[in-house]
Amino acid sequence: MASKTYCFTYINEFNETCKAEFKHNEYHNLMELLFDRYMEDVGDCKGRAWCGTCHIQILDGSLSEKMDADEKETLSKSEAVTQNSRLACQIPVNAELHNLVFRIMPRT
Ligand code: FES
Repeated sequence: MASKTYCFTYINEFNETCKAEFKHNEYHNLMELLFDRYMEDVGDCKGRAWCGTCHIQILDGSLSEKMDADEKETLSKSEAVTQNSRLACQIPVNAELHNLVFRIMPRT
């Protein structure tokens, strides 16, 4: 049986609104999905929550996955951080992302 397809919306660095489809656990995390399919300018630390290049801001929706100490520490050193900031590499690719809207923050 084919697994269910989900969808999220993101705003890229050109301020374009884009839709993306994905399947549950298709990638280890959201950063890998974005890197593989849509943009090459993220993921310098390969998902270890060290580099901050995968900074996103959640605009609509929420995630139950809490931030760990590494994610908090890296975000505290990033620019333009808000309470809705997350590191995409720390977010699992699952049904919780369905209908999520987020902005990919430009590299600083
Ligand atoms: S890939 Fe480096 S912090 Fe997410």
